Amino acid sequence: MTRDVRIRRIAESDWADIVTLEAGAYTALGLTEGRAVLESKARVSPATCFALDVVPGASTGRPAERRLGGYLLALPYPERSYPGLARREEVVFHSRKLHLHDLVIAEDLRGRGLGRLLFRRLAGGARRQGYEQISLVAVGGSHTFWSANGFTAHPGIADPGDYGPGSVYMTMALAPDRVGDPAPVGGLLSGAPSRDEVG
Ligand SMILES: CC(C)(COP(=O)(O)OP(=O)(O)OC[C@H]1O[C@@H](n2cnc3c(N)ncnc32)[C@H](O)[C@@H]1OP(=O)(O)O)[C@@H](O)C(=O)NCCC(=O)NCCS
Repeated sequence: MTRDVRIRRIAESDWADIVTLEAGAYTALGLTEGRAVLESKARVSPATCFALDVVPGASTGRPAERRLGGYLLALPYPERSYPGLARREEVVFHSRKLHLHDLVIAEDLRGRGLGRLLFRRLAGGARRQGYEQISLVAVGGSHTFWSANGFTAHPGIADPGDYGPGSVYMTMALAPDRVGDPAPVGGLLSGAPSRDEVG
């Protein structure tokens, strides 16, 4: 399966498919955000947002047309806080914490390790870029998936009014990159996070 899968940066032409995947995953939970908000969350940190392509038959030499099998959106965010749902992001936070805002795998492709693969791609890149922690708000009972991927729950931080009943804020520490230099994220400031306006 992994030979039929490619992870890459999100392109402008992906958004219609991303919106469809997002609506399929969250409409029943009342947590959909809509295209403009999703795009704003990717715009503040394109290097930490990914699309996952699936090309059926690629490993057999008879590839079918590629399709978007999933996506992941993550952006730097201050400690113990998280983006508002359905609220456009308009600033870039300078923080050593990366917030994994959203990860969706197409329903018919779930349970094959693709969610874990996409997350690992994010975590590896984040570590190399000098991030020290990843946070997220687990929704819809997905906290068990995140626990299995190294996250610890911190009840009481996420307001259930924001992401629904049972939602929980979780974090995972990133060990420094042992292969390359632990170079800091470009433009990171120590101390309190600051923000930049984006266009
Ligand atoms: C969560 C999600 C990304 C996982 O993707 P996936 O490709 O199915 O996950 P993987 O194949 O890598 O991992 C499968 C394992 O995770 C578990 N798992 C998958 N989705 C889960 C969920 N929503 N809740 C709890 N456990 C889940 C499976 O039971 C399986 O466990 P096992 O290995 O013990 O059998 C996918 O279910 C999804 O897109 N859900 C809808 C969107 C969502 O809830 N995203 C998370 C928002 S915080």
